[in-house]
Amino acid sequence: MTKLRSRVIGMGSFLPPRVVTNEDLAQLMDTSDEWIVQRTGIRERRWVEGVTSTSDLALQASRRALDSAGLDAEDLDMIFLATLSPDHFFPGSAVFLQTKLGLAGIPAIDVRQQCTGFVYALSMADQYIRTGSAHRILVVGAEVHSKGLDKSTRGRDVTVLFGDGAGAVVIEATKVETPRSDAHLLSTHLFTDGAFAEELWVPAVSTAFDEEIVDQRMLDRGDQYPKMNGRQVFVNAVKRMPEAVETALEHNGYEVADVDLFVFHQANLRINEAVAQRLGAAPEKVFNTIDKYANTTAATIPIGLDEAVRAGRLQPGMLVALAAFGSGFTWGSALLRW
Ligand code: ACO
Repeated sequence: MTKLRSRVIGMGSFLPPRVVTNEDLAQLMDTSDEWIVQRTGIRERRWVEGVTSTSDLALQASRRALDSAGLDAEDLDMIFLATLSPDHFFPGSAVFLQTKLGLAGIPAIDVRQQCTGFVYALSMADQYIRTGSAHRILVVGAEVHSKGLDKSTRGRDVTVLFGDGAGAVVIEATKVETPRSDAHLLSTHLFTDGAFAEELWVPAVSTAFDEEIVDQRMLDRGDQYPKMNGRQVFVNAVKRMPEAVETALEHNGYEVADVDLFVFHQANLRINEAVAQRLGAAPEKVFNTIDKYANTTAATIPIGLDEAVRAGRLQPGMLVALAAFGSGFTWGSALLRW
């Protein structure tokens, strides 16, 4: 029986040109290249300059994704933009991206699921395609972290981990007749446990603390900067990401060995090595970009897909597994026949 499914028909990424090495960070705070590389695998990251915003990065990645699909922006039915570093408190950044693409009218939706944002956005977009409500959707992950990091020694545990960047895919409805071989998104699997919300968060600006969303006490405490319980994140990420991949494989009747490429969220190289080990996946099947770009949160997976295609590591016909874990805690997976 023919089924209506999504398939990726274009992808693109954009990294701002300014490279910030670990040595550069050591000029700003008490840290070292050795500490960062040993614990995270990160060697450098990109930071925007001047007034560049999250929707600016999203625009560049989106244009490249549209170009690679051979489409114009007018061919889109919807936009999903996943980010935890929006242009403004409201409205969402997807509306700014929409205008910058020269569009009006179609729905433009923000997804606020942090490191798992792209997997959530892809899942939501897929539901619209499956029901026949939309034919072509742009799904973007974009972040400007550098403007929201504590660049003093106080913030070093978090600041060294993050970078700026954007990635985008265009998905299109396709009729799948032979599920084992036709290119399509097989399934997505989403999870949340809000009990861990404060283990990795930016407390302010906030409606939860006081009578104003921001005041001097919040700023003095540094509540506008990310706070992280690194150990909790590590322990949960290495448990939840393999679980999510196994759920996706089981759902579709595949084994770990059937997967040709794993494109995981890039939080930390040690996390991804531990995830591969728990799954029993061959390390060479895991595509990592963290050494060059650090953690770009919602952008890591679409950047990874784009780079894997460019590097010839992701070829038509391959089975690719995506998995992410992050603030919320949220986590999820997706399985695609490329
Ligand atoms: N440079 C130098 N020293 C540092 C730095 C730094 N950037 N940051 C922390 N330290 C110090 C700490 O102050 C501590 O010093 P102390 O022993 O004198 O108190 C020491 O280094 C050791 O700190 P630990 O937290 O014990 O180091 P650990 O080996 O646990 O590694 C890390 C920390 C890398 C954050 C680890 O917990 C981890 O990988 N956690 C996962 C977090 C993560 O990847 N988050 C990404 C964002 S979330 C996501 O995307 C899912």
